[in-house]
Amino acid sequence: MTQPGLFISFEGIDGAGKSTHMAALAQAFEAQGRVVTRTREPGGTALAEQLRELVLQAAMDPMTEALLVFAARRDHLQQLIEPALARGEVVLCDRFTDATFAYQGMGRGFDLKTLHYLEQLVQTVKGLDGDLIRQPELTIWFALDPRVAAQRLAGARLPDKFESQPVDFFSRVSDGYLQRLLAHPQRFARIAAEQSRETVWQAVLNVVRQRGWLA
Ligand code: TYD
Repeated sequence: MTQPGLFISFEGIDGAGKSTHMAALAQAFEAQGRVVTRTREPGGTALAEQLRELVLQAAMDPMTEALLVFAARRDHLQQLIEPALARGEVVLCDRFTDATFAYQGMGRGFDLKTLHYLEQLVQTVKGLDGDLIRQPELTIWFALDPRVAAQRLAGARLPDKFESQPVDFFSRVSDGYLQRLLAHPQRFARIAAEQSRETVWQAVLNVVRQRGWLA
């Protein structure tokens, strides 16, 4: 029998450093014999990557942005995430719906009730015992002071639409993540990302080991 799939998402404001740790965690799972699918949002499929380009580069109103992000998510879930989980793989996803609540909801000020509705609509998938609302089993939130993140990002590369936002945008985004943590305390693990890279990595490992997913 194949083992159950495992879905983990990585969140944080731009500059929080989640990508490095996601790659390292993929290696740790592979070293223990698991098949890992690494993916990202918006994106992960050909269609969703096209939508990502639009969302990150083109100016648009917050509703359009939210709808495009959820359209990309629907395709990503159906084409990539659900099949990988059904095969018993570990799916590591760079951002998921918490980012929509944080960026479109708190950052842009788009209506949170509508986001909740879209979340239910888009993430309802067929499970073994009927429909379920797909969520990550674990969300690792790399929490970082927006002013520190801004310093880290400064001059790093050409910023996209979100990376060029002012610090107070990212303060609201951080509040958005905190609200999601308070609403989903079991699923969330908050890691202080201003610590050294090695300390952050040990915290990531601990969180996953505590849940019994890595030896
Ligand atoms: P990011 O994950 O930081 O990728 P990279 O490391 O290549 O910069 O970029 C994705 C951007 O998309 C980030 O600024 C947050 C934004 N975003 C949203 O606004 N809403 C969403 O629902 C998601 C998933 C991402």
